[in-house]
Amino acid sequence: MNQNYPDFTADTELDRVRGWTSDFAEENQRPPTYFIQTFGCQQNDHDSEIAAGILEEMGFAEGTSVDDSELVLFNTCSVRANADERFFGHVGRLKPIKKKTLPVIGVLGCMMEQDLHRDVLFKTFSYVDFALGAGAMELLPAALGDVLYSERKQGTRDLTRKESDPFATGQPVRRVKPHRALITVMTGCNNICSYCIVPYTRGREKSRPYEQIMEEAIGTVRSGAVEIMLLGQNVNSYGNDVRLQGGQAPGFAELIRDISLIESLGIVRFMTSHPKDLSDELIEVIGSYPVIEPHVHLPIQSGSDRILKKMNRKYTAAHFLDRVHRLRDSRPGLTITTDLIVGFPGEDEEDFEATLRVMEEARFDAAFTFLYSPRSGTPAASLYDQGDRDLVQGRFERLVELQNQISLESNRSLLGKTVEVLLDGPSRRDPRILSGRTRDDRLVNVSFDDSTSLQADGTDHVNPYVGSFVRVKIVKAGSFSLEGHADIP
Ligand code: SAH
Ligand code: SF4
Ligand code: F3S
Repeated sequence: MNQNYPDFTADTELDRVRGWTSDFAEENQRPPTYFIQTFGCQQNDHDSEIAAGILEEMGFAEGTSVDDSELVLFNTCSVRANADERFFGHVGRLKPIKKKTLPVIGVLGCMMEQDLHRDVLFKTFSYVDFALGAGAMELLPAALGDVLYSERKQGTRDLTRKESDPFATGQPVRRVKPHRALITVMTGCNNICSYCIVPYTRGREKSRPYEQIMEEAIGTVRSGAVEIMLLGQNVNSYGNDVRLQGGQAPGFAELIRDISLIESLGIVRFMTSHPKDLSDELIEVIGSYPVIEPHVHLPIQSGSDRILKKMNRKYTAAHFLDRVHRLRDSRPGLTITTDLIVGFPGEDEEDFEATLRVMEEARFDAAFTFLYSPRSGTPAASLYDQGDRDLVQGRFERLVELQNQISLESNRSLLGKTVEVLLDGPSRRDPRILSGRTRDDRLVNVSFDDSTSLQADGTDHVNPYVGSFVRVKIVKAGSFSLEGHADIP
Protein backbone atom coordinates (compact mmCIF):
# COMPACT_ATOMS: atom_id res chain seq x y z
CA MET A 1 0.00 0.00 0.00
CA ASN A 2 1.06 3.54 -0.58
CA GLN A 3 2.68 4.80 2.60
CA ASN A 4 3.16 8.40 1.52
CA TYR A 5 0.65 9.99 3.84
CA PRO A 6 1.29 13.53 5.07
CA ASP A 7 2.66 13.89 8.58
CA PHE A 8 0.14 15.93 10.51
CA THR A 9 2.61 17.03 13.21
CA ALA A 10 4.70 18.79 10.54
CA ASP A 11 1.80 21.17 9.82
CA THR A 12 2.94 24.75 10.48
CA GLU A 13 -0.69 25.85 10.90
CA LEU A 14 -0.52 24.29 14.36
CA ASP A 15 1.99 26.91 15.47
CA ARG A 16 -0.20 29.78 14.32
CA VAL A 17 -3.03 28.60 16.60
CA ARG A 18 -0.57 27.81 19.40
CA GLY A 19 0.48 31.48 19.25
CA TRP A 20 -3.12 32.56 19.79
CA THR A 21 -3.80 30.13 22.66
CA SER A 22 -0.63 31.10 24.50
CA ASP A 23 -1.46 34.83 24.21
CA PHE A 24 -4.93 34.06 25.52
CA ALA A 25 -3.56 32.01 28.41
CA GLU A 26 -1.16 34.79 29.40
CA GLU A 27 -3.92 37.40 29.39
CA ASN A 28 -6.52 35.30 31.19
CA GLN A 29 -4.35 33.13 33.41
CA ARG A 30 -6.01 30.03 31.99
CA PRO A 31 -6.05 28.23 28.65
CA PRO A 32 -8.94 28.85 26.24
CA THR A 33 -11.54 26.07 26.32
CA TYR A 34 -13.40 24.12 23.64
CA PHE A 35 -16.73 22.31 23.64
CA ILE A 36 -17.75 19.81 20.95
CA GLN A 37 -21.30 18.64 20.39
CA THR A 38 -21.42 15.48 18.31
CA PHE A 39 -24.34 14.04 16.33
CA GLY A 40 -24.49 10.83 14.31
CA CYS A 41 -22.55 7.59 14.22
CA GLN A 42 -19.36 6.22 15.79
CA GLN A 43 -17.40 7.56 12.85
CA ASN A 44 -18.41 11.04 13.97
CA ASP A 45 -17.70 10.22 17.63
CA HIS A 46 -14.21 9.30 16.57
CA ASP A 47 -13.75 12.37 14.36
CA SER A 48 -14.64 14.45 17.43
CA GLU A 49 -11.97 12.59 19.40
CA ILE A 50 -9.47 13.60 16.73
CA ALA A 51 -10.71 17.23 16.80
CA ALA A 52 -10.31 17.26 20.60
CA GLY A 53 -6.80 15.79 20.29
CA ILE A 54 -5.77 18.42 17.75
CA LEU A 55 -7.21 21.25 19.85
CA GLU A 56 -5.40 20.10 22.99
CA GLU A 57 -2.21 19.80 20.98
CA MET A 58 -2.68 23.46 20.06
CA GLY A 59 -3.22 24.64 23.64
CA PHE A 60 -6.99 24.44 24.19
CA ALA A 61 -8.45 22.72 27.25
CA GLU A 62 -11.76 20.86 27.39
CA GLY A 63 -14.66 23.06 28.55
CA THR A 64 -17.81 22.03 30.35
CA SER A 65 -20.55 23.67 28.25
CA VAL A 66 -21.37 25.77 25.22
CA ASP A 67 -21.87 28.85 27.41
CA ASP A 68 -18.41 29.07 28.91
CA SER A 69 -16.16 27.97 26.05
CA GLU A 70 -14.07 30.09 23.69
CA LEU A 71 -14.52 27.57 20.88
CA VAL A 72 -17.73 25.69 20.11
CA LEU A 73 -17.76 22.95 17.49
CA PHE A 74 -20.71 21.01 16.14
CA ASN A 75 -19.96 17.71 14.43
CA THR A 76 -23.02 17.13 12.27
CA CYS A 77 -24.87 14.14 10.80
CA SER A 78 -27.18 14.11 7.80
CA VAL A 79 -28.47 10.56 7.73
CA ARG A 80 -32.10 11.46 8.52
CA ALA A 81 -34.02 14.74 8.54
CA ASN A 82 -34.27 14.85 12.33
CA ALA A 83 -30.46 14.79 12.59
CA ASP A 84 -30.27 17.95 10.44
CA GLU A 85 -33.06 19.64 12.37
CA ARG A 86 -31.55 18.95 15.78
CA PHE A 87 -28.31 20.58 14.68
CA PHE A 88 -30.02 23.73 13.33
CA GLY A 89 -31.90 24.00 16.65
CA HIS A 90 -28.63 23.90 18.60
CA VAL A 91 -26.77 26.38 16.43
CA GLY A 92 -29.76 28.76 16.57
CA ARG A 93 -29.53 28.89 20.34
CA LEU A 94 -25.98 30.26 20.14
CA LYS A 95 -26.96 33.65 18.73
CA PRO A 96 -27.38 35.40 22.10
CA ILE A 97 -24.08 34.12 23.47
CA LYS A 98 -21.94 35.16 20.51
CA LYS A 99 -20.11 38.35 21.49
CA LYS A 100 -18.02 40.27 18.98
CA THR A 101 -15.54 37.52 18.20
CA LEU A 102 -16.00 34.82 20.84
CA PRO A 103 -16.90 32.08 21.08
CA VAL A 104 -15.51 30.98 17.74
CA ILE A 105 -18.16 28.69 16.23
CA GLY A 106 -17.20 25.95 13.79
CA VAL A 107 -19.37 23.34 12.09
CA LEU A 108 -17.87 20.01 11.06
CA GLY A 109 -19.12 16.73 9.71
CA CYS A 110 -21.42 15.22 7.12
CA MET A 111 -23.83 18.15 6.69
CA MET A 112 -20.87 20.32 5.72
CA GLU A 113 -20.09 18.07 2.77
CA GLN A 114 -23.38 19.17 1.18
CA ASP A 115 -23.76 22.56 -0.53
CA LEU A 116 -27.43 22.60 0.39
CA HIS A 117 -26.67 22.69 4.11
CA ARG A 118 -23.62 24.92 3.87
CA ASP A 119 -25.73 27.53 2.06
CA VAL A 120 -28.51 27.44 4.67
CA LEU A 121 -25.96 27.60 7.46
CA PHE A 122 -24.12 30.63 6.20
CA LYS A 123 -27.24 32.50 5.11
CA THR A 124 -29.23 31.93 8.27
CA PHE A 125 -26.58 31.79 10.96
CA SER A 126 -24.13 34.52 10.03
CA TYR A 127 -22.36 34.27 13.39
CA VAL A 128 -20.93 30.84 12.48
CA ASP A 129 -17.22 31.30 11.72
CA PHE A 130 -16.18 28.29 9.71
CA ALA A 131 -17.24 24.96 8.22
CA LEU A 132 -15.19 21.86 7.66
CA GLY A 133 -16.53 18.75 5.92
CA ALA A 134 -16.38 15.21 7.30
CA GLY A 135 -13.00 13.64 6.75
CA ALA A 136 -11.26 17.03 6.55
CA MET A 137 -10.15 17.13 10.18
CA GLU A 138 -6.56 17.43 9.05
CA LEU A 139 -7.47 21.00 8.00
CA LEU A 140 -8.84 22.05 11.40
CA PRO A 141 -5.70 24.02 12.37
CA ALA A 142 -5.79 25.95 9.08
CA ALA A 143 -9.51 26.73 9.32
CA LEU A 144 -9.27 27.81 12.93
CA GLY A 145 -6.09 29.82 12.40
CA ASP A 146 -7.77 31.74 9.58
CA VAL A 147 -10.66 32.70 11.84
CA LEU A 148 -8.51 33.61 14.85
CA TYR A 149 -6.40 35.90 12.69
CA SER A 150 -9.42 37.02 10.65
CA GLU A 151 -7.96 36.29 7.26
CA ARG A 152 -10.94 34.50 5.86
CA LYS A 153 -14.44 34.00 7.07
CA GLN A 154 -17.18 31.45 6.82
CA GLY A 155 -17.38 29.50 3.58
CA THR A 156 -14.92 31.58 1.61
CA ARG A 157 -12.57 28.67 1.56
CA ASP A 158 -14.18 25.38 0.66
CA LEU A 159 -12.72 22.98 3.15
CA THR A 160 -14.09 19.53 2.49
CA ARG A 161 -12.68 16.03 2.34
CA LYS A 162 -11.80 16.54 -1.32
CA GLU A 163 -8.67 18.45 -0.47
CA SER A 164 -7.85 16.58 2.70
CA ASP A 165 -6.31 13.25 3.61
CA PRO A 166 -8.26 11.28 6.21
CA PHE A 167 -5.25 9.11 6.97
CA ALA A 168 -2.68 11.82 7.68
CA THR A 169 -0.29 10.21 10.12
CA GLY A 170 0.32 11.52 13.63
CA GLN A 171 -3.12 13.07 14.19
CA PRO A 172 -3.52 13.25 17.95
CA VAL A 173 -6.59 11.57 19.46
CA ARG A 174 -8.21 12.48 22.76
CA ARG A 175 -10.19 9.34 23.60
CA VAL A 176 -13.48 9.84 25.43
CA LYS A 177 -12.83 6.63 27.34
CA PRO A 178 -9.20 5.59 27.64
CA HIS A 179 -10.17 1.92 27.81
CA ARG A 180 -12.02 2.08 24.46
CA ALA A 181 -10.09 2.80 21.27
CA LEU A 182 -12.20 3.65 18.23
CA ILE A 183 -10.01 2.96 15.20
CA THR A 184 -10.90 3.80 11.60
CA VAL A 185 -10.17 1.03 9.11
CA MET A 186 -11.79 2.69 6.12
CA THR A 187 -13.77 5.75 5.16
CA GLY A 188 -16.58 6.26 2.66
CA CYS A 189 -18.97 3.81 1.05
CA ASN A 190 -19.39 2.41 -2.46
CA ASN A 191 -22.77 0.81 -1.99
CA ILE A 192 -25.11 3.63 -3.00
CA CYS A 193 -28.13 2.25 -1.17
CA SER A 194 -30.86 4.32 -2.79
CA TYR A 195 -32.05 5.99 0.45
CA CYS A 196 -28.65 6.80 1.94
CA ILE A 197 -26.72 10.07 2.00
CA VAL A 198 -23.47 8.63 3.39
CA PRO A 199 -21.75 7.91 0.03
CA TYR A 200 -22.21 11.59 -0.83
CA THR A 201 -20.98 12.95 2.48
CA ARG A 202 -18.12 10.53 3.11
CA GLY A 203 -17.23 9.81 -0.50
CA ARG A 204 -16.05 6.55 -2.02
CA GLU A 205 -14.43 3.75 -0.05
CA LYS A 206 -10.86 4.30 0.95
CA SER A 207 -9.04 1.68 3.01
CA ARG A 208 -6.51 2.76 5.56
CA PRO A 209 -3.13 1.05 5.23
CA TYR A 210 -2.89 -2.17 7.25
CA GLU A 211 0.38 -1.11 8.90
CA GLN A 212 -1.12 2.17 10.07
CA ILE A 213 -4.10 0.40 11.64
CA MET A 214 -1.91 -2.19 13.38
CA GLU A 215 0.42 0.50 14.68
CA GLU A 216 -2.46 2.49 16.17
CA ALA A 217 -4.06 -0.66 17.62
CA ILE A 218 -0.86 -1.87 19.29
CA GLY A 219 -0.16 1.65 20.59
CA THR A 220 -3.61 2.00 22.19
CA VAL A 221 -3.37 -1.39 23.92
CA ARG A 222 0.09 -0.47 25.25
CA SER A 223 -1.38 2.70 26.70
CA GLY A 224 -4.22 0.88 28.42
CA ALA A 225 -7.04 0.22 25.94
CA VAL A 226 -8.98 -2.95 26.75
CA GLU A 227 -11.44 -2.67 23.89
CA ILE A 228 -10.84 -1.82 20.24
CA MET A 229 -13.74 -0.85 17.99
CA LEU A 230 -12.90 -1.06 14.28
CA LEU A 231 -14.89 1.45 12.27
CA GLY A 232 -16.04 1.66 8.68
CA GLN A 233 -19.39 2.01 6.89
CA ASN A 234 -18.83 -1.41 5.37
CA VAL A 235 -15.83 -3.05 7.06
CA ASN A 236 -16.24 -6.28 5.08
CA SER A 237 -15.01 -4.61 1.91
CA TYR A 238 -11.76 -3.55 3.56
CA GLY A 239 -8.92 -3.55 1.01
CA ASN A 240 -11.18 -3.90 -2.08
CA ASP A 241 -10.28 -0.43 -3.37
CA VAL A 242 -6.57 -1.19 -3.12
CA ARG A 243 -6.88 -4.59 -4.81
CA LEU A 244 -9.00 -3.11 -7.60
CA GLN A 245 -6.16 -0.75 -8.38
CA GLY A 246 -3.74 -3.64 -8.58
CA GLY A 247 -2.30 -3.16 -5.10
CA GLN A 248 -2.04 -5.71 -2.32
CA ALA A 249 -4.02 -5.52 0.89
CA PRO A 250 -5.26 -8.10 3.36
CA GLY A 251 -9.01 -8.56 3.70
CA PHE A 252 -11.03 -7.69 6.80
CA ALA A 253 -10.96 -11.28 8.10
CA GLU A 254 -7.17 -11.20 8.19
CA LEU A 255 -7.06 -7.71 9.67
CA ILE A 256 -9.42 -8.45 12.57
CA ARG A 257 -7.69 -11.76 13.28
CA ASP A 258 -4.32 -10.00 13.53
CA ILE A 259 -5.80 -7.37 15.83
CA SER A 260 -7.37 -10.01 18.05
CA LEU A 261 -3.89 -11.50 18.55
CA ILE A 262 -2.49 -8.30 20.12
CA GLU A 263 -1.26 -9.25 23.55
CA SER A 264 -3.49 -8.21 26.48
CA LEU A 265 -6.30 -6.84 24.33
CA GLY A 266 -9.62 -7.73 26.01
CA ILE A 267 -12.06 -7.47 23.11
CA VAL A 268 -12.25 -6.29 19.51
CA ARG A 269 -15.57 -5.01 18.17
CA PHE A 270 -16.35 -3.95 14.61
CA MET A 271 -19.04 -2.18 12.65
CA THR A 272 -20.74 -2.10 10.23
CA SER A 273 -21.02 -5.33 8.25
CA HIS A 274 -22.93 -5.39 4.97
CA PRO A 275 -24.83 -8.68 4.47
CA LYS A 276 -23.70 -9.00 0.84
CA ASP A 277 -20.02 -8.82 1.83
CA LEU A 278 -19.99 -10.89 5.02
CA SER A 279 -17.74 -13.71 3.83
CA ASP A 280 -17.51 -17.31 5.01
CA GLU A 281 -13.88 -16.58 5.82
CA LEU A 282 -14.88 -13.78 8.22
CA ILE A 283 -17.55 -15.96 9.82
CA GLU A 284 -14.90 -18.62 10.42
CA VAL A 285 -12.53 -16.10 11.99
CA ILE A 286 -15.30 -14.77 14.26
CA GLY A 287 -15.95 -18.37 15.32
CA SER A 288 -12.30 -19.15 16.03
CA TYR A 289 -10.83 -16.17 17.89
CA PRO A 290 -12.42 -15.58 21.31
CA VAL A 291 -11.13 -11.99 21.61
CA ILE A 292 -13.40 -11.02 18.69
CA GLU A 293 -16.83 -10.05 20.05
CA PRO A 294 -19.50 -12.74 19.67
CA HIS A 295 -21.76 -10.13 18.10
CA VAL A 296 -22.38 -8.85 14.58
CA HIS A 297 -24.30 -5.74 13.62
CA LEU A 298 -25.86 -6.77 10.32
CA PRO A 299 -28.39 -4.25 8.98
CA ILE A 300 -31.19 -5.91 7.02
CA GLN A 301 -33.24 -2.73 6.26
CA SER A 302 -36.18 -4.74 4.88
CA GLY A 303 -37.27 -8.37 4.64
CA SER A 304 -38.98 -7.92 1.25
CA ASP A 305 -36.90 -8.84 -1.81
CA ARG A 306 -38.85 -6.32 -3.87
CA ILE A 307 -37.97 -3.47 -1.48
CA LEU A 308 -34.39 -4.67 -1.01
CA LYS A 309 -34.00 -4.41 -4.76
CA LYS A 310 -35.39 -0.88 -4.82
CA MET A 311 -33.05 -0.05 -1.96
CA ASN A 312 -30.15 -1.37 -4.05
CA ARG A 313 -29.02 -3.60 -1.19
CA LYS A 314 -27.87 -6.43 -3.52
CA TYR A 315 -29.01 -9.40 -1.39
CA THR A 316 -32.23 -11.29 -0.81
CA ALA A 317 -33.95 -12.15 2.46
CA ALA A 318 -32.89 -15.78 1.91
CA HIS A 319 -29.23 -14.79 1.60
CA PHE A 320 -29.51 -12.67 4.72
CA LEU A 321 -31.02 -15.54 6.71
CA ASP A 322 -28.30 -17.87 5.45
CA ARG A 323 -25.68 -15.47 6.86
CA VAL A 324 -27.55 -15.31 10.17
CA HIS A 325 -27.70 -19.09 10.53
CA ARG A 326 -24.05 -19.53 9.59
CA LEU A 327 -23.00 -16.89 12.10
CA ARG A 328 -25.03 -18.49 14.89
CA ASP A 329 -23.61 -21.92 14.03
CA SER A 330 -20.06 -20.57 14.08
CA ARG A 331 -20.13 -19.47 17.68
CA PRO A 332 -22.52 -20.42 20.47
CA GLY A 333 -24.35 -17.47 22.01
CA LEU A 334 -23.40 -15.02 19.24
CA THR A 335 -25.82 -12.09 19.10
CA ILE A 336 -27.02 -10.36 15.94
CA THR A 337 -28.33 -6.82 15.85
CA THR A 338 -29.75 -4.96 12.88
CA ASP A 339 -31.14 -1.75 11.38
CA LEU A 340 -34.59 -1.58 9.78
CA ILE A 341 -36.29 1.09 7.71
CA VAL A 342 -40.09 1.35 7.64
CA GLY A 343 -41.97 3.26 4.93
CA PHE A 344 -39.54 3.10 2.04
CA PRO A 345 -41.36 4.44 -1.07
CA GLY A 346 -43.74 1.82 -2.44
CA GLU A 347 -43.61 -0.48 0.60
CA ASP A 348 -47.00 -2.21 0.89
CA GLU A 349 -48.56 -4.46 3.52
CA GLU A 350 -47.17 -7.57 1.86
CA ASP A 351 -43.62 -6.17 1.90
CA PHE A 352 -44.02 -5.17 5.51
CA GLU A 353 -45.29 -8.59 6.52
CA ALA A 354 -42.29 -10.15 4.77
CA THR A 355 -40.11 -8.04 7.06
CA LEU A 356 -41.99 -9.24 10.15
CA ARG A 357 -41.54 -12.86 9.03
CA VAL A 358 -37.80 -12.45 8.55
CA MET A 359 -37.57 -10.85 11.99
CA GLU A 360 -39.33 -13.84 13.53
CA GLU A 361 -36.85 -16.16 11.87
CA ALA A 362 -33.68 -14.14 12.39
CA ARG A 363 -34.57 -13.34 16.03
CA PHE A 364 -32.40 -10.24 16.24
CA ASP A 365 -31.14 -9.64 19.74
CA ALA A 366 -31.71 -5.91 19.21
CA ALA A 367 -32.69 -3.63 16.34
CA PHE A 368 -32.51 0.04 15.48
CA THR A 369 -35.72 0.92 13.69
CA PHE A 370 -36.09 4.03 11.53
CA LEU A 371 -38.86 5.75 9.62
CA TYR A 372 -37.74 6.34 6.06
CA SER A 373 -36.53 9.90 5.64
CA PRO A 374 -36.06 11.23 2.10
CA ARG A 375 -32.57 12.70 1.64
CA SER A 376 -32.11 15.22 -1.09
CA GLY A 377 -29.60 14.03 -3.68
CA THR A 378 -30.21 10.31 -3.13
CA PRO A 379 -31.93 8.21 -5.83
CA ALA A 380 -34.90 7.29 -3.60
CA ALA A 381 -35.72 10.92 -2.79
CA SER A 382 -37.19 11.38 -6.25
CA LEU A 383 -39.44 8.30 -6.09
CA TYR A 384 -43.05 9.32 -6.34
CA ASP A 385 -44.76 7.34 -3.61
CA GLN A 386 -43.57 8.39 -0.17
CA GLY A 387 -46.38 6.49 1.59
CA ASP A 388 -49.27 7.41 3.86
CA ARG A 389 -47.88 8.78 7.13
CA ASP A 390 -50.43 7.19 9.49
CA LEU A 391 -50.12 3.85 7.78
CA VAL A 392 -46.34 3.96 7.99
CA GLN A 393 -46.45 5.06 11.63
CA GLY A 394 -48.76 2.14 12.41
CA ARG A 395 -46.36 -0.30 10.76
CA PHE A 396 -43.46 1.22 12.62
CA GLU A 397 -45.24 0.60 15.93
CA ARG A 398 -46.03 -3.02 15.03
CA LEU A 399 -42.41 -3.59 14.11
CA VAL A 400 -41.10 -2.07 17.32
CA GLU A 401 -43.54 -4.12 19.37
CA LEU A 402 -42.44 -7.38 17.76
CA GLN A 403 -38.75 -6.52 18.15
CA ASN A 404 -39.17 -5.52 21.80
CA GLN A 405 -40.72 -8.87 22.54
CA ILE A 406 -37.88 -10.75 20.76
CA SER A 407 -35.22 -8.60 22.47
CA LEU A 408 -36.82 -9.27 25.84
CA GLU A 409 -36.80 -13.02 25.25
CA SER A 410 -33.17 -12.85 24.19
CA ASN A 411 -32.18 -10.85 27.27
CA ARG A 412 -34.18 -13.14 29.57
CA SER A 413 -32.02 -16.06 28.50
CA LEU A 414 -29.27 -14.53 30.65
CA LEU A 415 -31.32 -14.36 33.88
CA GLY A 416 -29.52 -16.00 36.76
CA LYS A 417 -26.32 -16.42 34.76
CA THR A 418 -22.98 -14.83 35.53
CA VAL A 419 -21.40 -13.05 32.56
CA GLU A 420 -18.42 -10.82 31.91
CA VAL A 421 -19.19 -7.11 31.61
CA LEU A 422 -16.75 -4.41 30.51
CA LEU A 423 -17.61 -1.45 32.73
CA ASP A 424 -17.75 1.89 30.93
CA GLY A 425 -18.61 4.32 33.74
CA PRO A 426 -21.44 5.57 35.94
CA SER A 427 -24.94 5.02 34.60
CA ARG A 428 -26.94 8.09 33.64
CA ARG A 429 -29.51 7.73 36.39
CA ASP A 430 -27.45 6.76 39.41
CA PRO A 431 -23.69 7.31 39.82
CA ARG A 432 -23.46 4.33 42.17
CA ILE A 433 -24.58 2.04 39.37
CA LEU A 434 -22.07 1.40 36.60
CA SER A 435 -23.11 0.64 33.08
CA GLY A 436 -21.20 -1.60 30.76
CA ARG A 437 -21.51 -4.11 27.95
CA THR A 438 -21.32 -7.87 27.83
CA ARG A 439 -18.98 -9.50 25.34
CA ASP A 440 -22.00 -10.02 23.10
CA ASP A 441 -22.83 -6.30 23.34
CA ARG A 442 -25.76 -6.15 25.73
CA LEU A 443 -26.12 -3.12 27.96
CA VAL A 444 -25.98 -3.98 31.68
CA ASN A 445 -26.45 -1.73 34.71
CA VAL A 446 -24.31 -3.12 37.47
CA SER A 447 -24.65 -2.61 41.23
CA PHE A 448 -21.96 -3.35 43.81
CA ASP A 449 -22.14 -4.76 47.31
CA ASP A 450 -20.30 -2.10 49.17
CA SER A 451 -19.36 1.51 48.62
CA THR A 452 -16.77 0.60 45.96
CA SER A 453 -18.33 3.15 43.69
CA LEU A 454 -18.38 6.11 46.06
CA GLN A 455 -15.85 8.22 47.83
CA ALA A 456 -16.10 8.86 51.57
CA ASP A 457 -18.05 12.08 51.01
CA GLY A 458 -20.58 10.14 48.94
CA THR A 459 -20.17 12.28 45.85
CA ASP A 460 -17.34 11.53 43.53
CA HIS A 461 -17.23 8.37 41.57
CA VAL A 462 -13.99 6.42 41.83
CA ASN A 463 -14.97 2.86 41.13
CA PRO A 464 -11.69 1.05 40.45
CA TYR A 465 -13.36 -1.39 38.07
CA VAL A 466 -14.23 1.15 35.36
CA GLY A 467 -12.47 0.08 32.16
CA SER A 468 -12.17 -3.57 33.13
CA PHE A 469 -14.16 -6.75 32.76
CA VAL A 470 -15.95 -7.92 35.91
CA ARG A 471 -18.15 -10.94 36.48
CA VAL A 472 -21.78 -9.93 36.90
CA LYS A 473 -24.79 -11.99 37.97
CA ILE A 474 -27.81 -11.00 35.87
CA VAL A 475 -30.89 -10.42 38.05
CA LYS A 476 -33.31 -8.52 35.79
CA ALA A 477 -33.93 -8.37 32.05
CA GLY A 478 -35.74 -5.76 29.96
CA SER A 479 -36.04 -5.23 26.21
CA PHE A 480 -33.19 -2.71 26.08
CA SER A 481 -30.94 -3.56 29.02
CA LEU A 482 -30.13 -5.92 31.85
CA GLU A 483 -29.51 -5.41 35.54
CA GLY A 484 -26.88 -7.30 37.44
CA HIS A 485 -24.83 -7.53 40.56
CA ALA A 486 -21.03 -7.50 40.50
CA ASP A 487 -19.59 -10.79 41.65
CA ILE A 488 -16.27 -9.62 43.02
CA PRO A 489 -14.37 -12.07 45.21
N1 SAH B 1 -23.12 1.72 6.79
C1 SAH B 1 -24.07 1.25 7.66
C2 SAH B 1 -24.94 2.26 8.36
C3 SAH B 1 -25.23 3.56 7.76
S1 SAH B 1 -26.41 4.64 8.44
C4 SAH B 1 -24.89 0.23 6.92
O1 SAH B 1 -24.87 0.13 5.74
O2 SAH B 1 -25.60 -0.47 7.58
C5 SAH B 1 -27.20 3.76 9.73
C6 SAH B 1 -28.61 3.34 9.44
O3 SAH B 1 -29.41 4.47 9.19
C7 SAH B 1 -28.78 2.48 8.21
O4 SAH B 1 -28.48 1.15 8.45
C8 SAH B 1 -30.24 2.68 7.89
O5 SAH B 1 -31.05 1.76 8.57
C9 SAH B 1 -30.53 4.07 8.43
N2 SAH B 1 -30.74 5.03 7.37
C10 SAH B 1 -29.86 5.47 6.45
N3 SAH B 1 -30.46 6.34 5.62
C11 SAH B 1 -31.74 6.47 6.01
C12 SAH B 1 -32.86 7.20 5.55
N4 SAH B 1 -32.77 7.99 4.49
N5 SAH B 1 -34.04 7.10 6.22
C13 SAH B 1 -34.13 6.28 7.30
N6 SAH B 1 -33.13 5.55 7.77
C14 SAH B 1 -31.94 5.64 7.14
FE1 SF4 C 1 -25.42 3.92 3.42
FE2 SF4 C 1 -25.72 1.59 2.26
FE3 SF4 C 1 -23.30 2.62 2.51
FE4 SF4 C 1 -24.56 1.76 4.66
S1 SF4 C 1 -23.91 0.49 2.94
S2 SF4 C 1 -23.47 3.69 4.44
S3 SF4 C 1 -26.69 2.25 4.22
S4 SF4 C 1 -24.95 3.44 1.25
FE1 F3S D 1 -24.40 10.57 10.02
FE2 F3S D 1 -22.28 10.93 8.54
FE3 F3S D 1 -22.35 8.97 10.28
S1 F3S D 1 -24.37 11.18 7.87
S2 F3S D 1 -24.49 8.43 10.32
S3 F3S D 1 -22.40 11.10 10.77
S4 F3S D 1 -21.35 8.94 8.31
